[in-house]
Amino acid sequence: MTHELTASRLASASSKVTASGGWWRDAVIYQVYVRSFADSDGDGVGDLQGVRARLPHLARLGVDAVWLTPFYVSPQADGGYDVADYRAVDPLFGDLSDADELVRAAHALGLRVIVDVVPNHTSDRHAWFREALAHPASEARTRYHFRPGRGPGGERPPNDWESVFGGPAWTRTPDGAWYLHLFAPEQPDLNWEHPEVAEEFASVLRFWLDLGVDGFRIDVAHGMVKAPGLPDIGRGAQATLIGTEPLPFFDQDGVHAIHRSWRRLLDSYEGPRIGVAEAWAPTSERLALYVRPDELHQAFNFRFLNCPWDTRAMRTVIDESLAATASVGAPTTWVLSNHDVVRHVTRYGGGAQGLSRARAAALLMLALPGSAYVYQGEELGLPEVEDLPDAVRQDPAFLRSAGQDGLRDGCRIPLPWSGELPPYGFGPAGSWLPQPADWAPLSVAAQTGDPHSTLELYRAALELRRALPGLGAPDAAPLTWLPAPEGVLHFTRPGFACTLNSRSEPLELASPGRPVLSSAPVETDGRTVLLPADACTWWAL
Ligand code: GLC
Repeated sequence: MTHELTASRLASASSKVTASGGWWRDAVIYQVYVRSFADSDGDGVGDLQGVRARLPHLARLGVDAVWLTPFYVSPQADGGYDVADYRAVDPLFGDLSDADELVRAAHALGLRVIVDVVPNHTSDRHAWFREALAHPASEARTRYHFRPGRGPGGERPPNDWESVFGGPAWTRTPDGAWYLHLFAPEQPDLNWEHPEVAEEFASVLRFWLDLGVDGFRIDVAHGMVKAPGLPDIGRGAQATLIGTEPLPFFDQDGVHAIHRSWRRLLDSYEGPRIGVAEAWAPTSERLALYVRPDELHQAFNFRFLNCPWDTRAMRTVIDESLAATASVGAPTTWVLSNHDVVRHVTRYGGGAQGLSRARAAALLMLALPGSAYVYQGEELGLPEVEDLPDAVRQDPAFLRSAGQDGLRDGCRIPLPWSGELPPYGFGPAGSWLPQPADWAPLSVAAQTGDPHSTLELYRAALELRRALPGLGAPDAAPLTWLPAPEGVLHFTRPGFACTLNSRSEPLELASPGRPVLSSAPVETDGRTVLLPADACTWWAL
């Protein structure tokens, strides 16, 4: 299949293509964590056919695009972020024809498809790394970072870098050399100074673009280039997922040349096809460098995700994010959860209060100018599962004594679709992580049609986001803050207003307009309204 064919099919199938600015600028992009979305074959692990069968849920939800986490051949040492073959589907998830059919089926529903690419490291089972291990003195080692150790017998690591998952970022091979891995030892870092590395990834990108994907989410997009000489940090700094500390292996200026070359490659396809940076940068300004006009299209806004339930902090992050991306002409992105962090229902306090805040935060996010990412299950209001038995956990961060910010299995529990008992329609039998016994009311089937459910709130919000003129279009519809008491965010966009009450008591205010959607019921006599605690309301003006 050629990309031209795919482009024409999509253009005719999708009513959601923005003619002028580019479809990604205001897109709502749904993250499918493939292992936990839907299982078609009963092995307890989600797969591509499972995703395809459930695409109607995403179309009905009203998102514009789907981001699929890695489904490539992998030993799964890090949930597929350890890729052994970048051009093949792991049998756990299906095969290439399943990927092809999934892309076609999504396009037929008007959904774009973004896939993950993992360029900072390969799996230790990748052909290049096997070759490097097998031939100590060979050129094959120069595709990675092999170094002699320190100390008389070379028994100490070459520098003091720590892995994101805990412990030294170096592992020693049987022949005595050390290799660098910023993540698990099964994820050796590639040497991007080596020309074959860049050539190989350009070819991998083309492979998936030719299959018809609409873009890439670029894993660790800030990590491929290391400071020359791999200098010591000197103070034993532990890198964390979504960290913001300047480090000699993250956010080096050299990564931008790689992203520029990828932009040229993306632009050579009909599209637009997009690149999304998973980059952790010390400031919004540094992050905006990844989305300059000749670089990537979007970067995840982890400052928004990391923001506490505090309207001053939220407003600062919103203003700084909008200003930083506006300075380079890019849209801002917003995200509350993903497969690496504690789900936001739980981050906001858990229980009924956490859910109220999560629903309010979703309405805030979806009212902001730019593009929003929704992590599977947040539309169901799923909480983090915090009581997983150690024996079932698979996160390498857990297995390596938690070097990073949090353990990541509790946000990866397979989704509940229907039914009273696990696996709640996730698949014909079982699920690779156990689902809680009380998740039946959270299933898609149980929430469908219930006007108070979180699922129906998301559906209504996404529908209004398309229908209301002031929403969605980032350039046409800027945000204007209105005066608001402490603990309240209040802003307008053309024809639209949004009010978030973060306080733990209701807020009485003069009605700014006609309430069109609220995360909790508002009382109004037409002139004044009572907005409940921890709630957000949308108004048509
Ligand atoms: C990214 C992924 C995370 C993975 C890491 C290493 O942060 O989101 O899941 O562990 O990269 O590839």
